[in-house]
Amino acid sequence: MDRPLVMKGKRVSLGIYRREEIPRMYRDFADSEVQRFLNRPDKLFYLEGEYDWYDGLRKDESSRVMAVLLNKGAGKGRSDGEHELIGSVGIHDIDIISRNAELGYLLFRKYWGKGYATEAVWLGIDYAFRTLNLRKLIARVMEPNRASSSVLEKNGFVLAGRLTGHHYLRSYGYVDELYYELHRDSVTD
Ligand SMILES: CC(C)(COP(=O)(O)OP(=O)(O)OC[C@H]1O[C@@H](n2cnc3c(N)ncnc32)[C@H](O)[C@@H]1OP(=O)(O)O)[C@@H](O)C(=O)NCCC(=O)NCCS
Repeated sequence: MDRPLVMKGKRVSLGIYRREEIPRMYRDFADSEVQRFLNRPDKLFYLEGEYDWYDGLRKDESSRVMAVLLNKGAGKGRSDGEHELIGSVGIHDIDIISRNAELGYLLFRKYWGKGYATEAVWLGIDYAFRTLNLRKLIARVMEPNRASSSVLEKNGFVLAGRLTGHHYLRSYGYVDELYYELHRDSVTD
């Protein structure tokens, strides 16, 4: 069974998560490389916890978390005839008074380095500004996560500030947290 798409892009789209995908997500999302620069790299994942996450997602009006899907025919050797789940883009902490929110994203490891994240983030931005009518997005990045900074910068985000030595990472010691921002009026149609 395929699913409703929310945003359609050239190679990837954003769509609705399906409950039966949770076990697959559990495996790829809990990957230590994927978690390396996320807020709680020490987190232990339980399958039941992912179902709780999914149930919360459906009811949470302050966030929009969408599946990143590889478009039919966009990947090599794909025969399932469906959009393939490759990651997640989320718009979190939506503030309807100030019209801002925080953008988050991840791709499963085998899809890195192909430009899919840059395209998926662009679709998230478009959704935030044109569908939700927000006026500003922020994103937070741990400084060693260069791929993530690059994805943001390629989409027009600018560095607004940093919290020094803010996070402890086992392989890096204390690292800065970078704050990026993007104003809607800086994005050309
Ligand atoms: C961050 C993430 C989404 C990037 O995905 P991706 O598929 O590599 O992204 P893209 O291919 O669209 O673009 C990555 C860019 O970063 C660049 N890059 C990758 N590693 C880099 C590094 N170590 N130093 C500098 N640039 C780097 C790539 O060259 C590419 O830029 P280019 O297109 O100009 O060559 C992916 O690594 C991920 O899911 N990581 C785990 C979760 C995560 O950290 N999410 C972000 C939290 S802030």
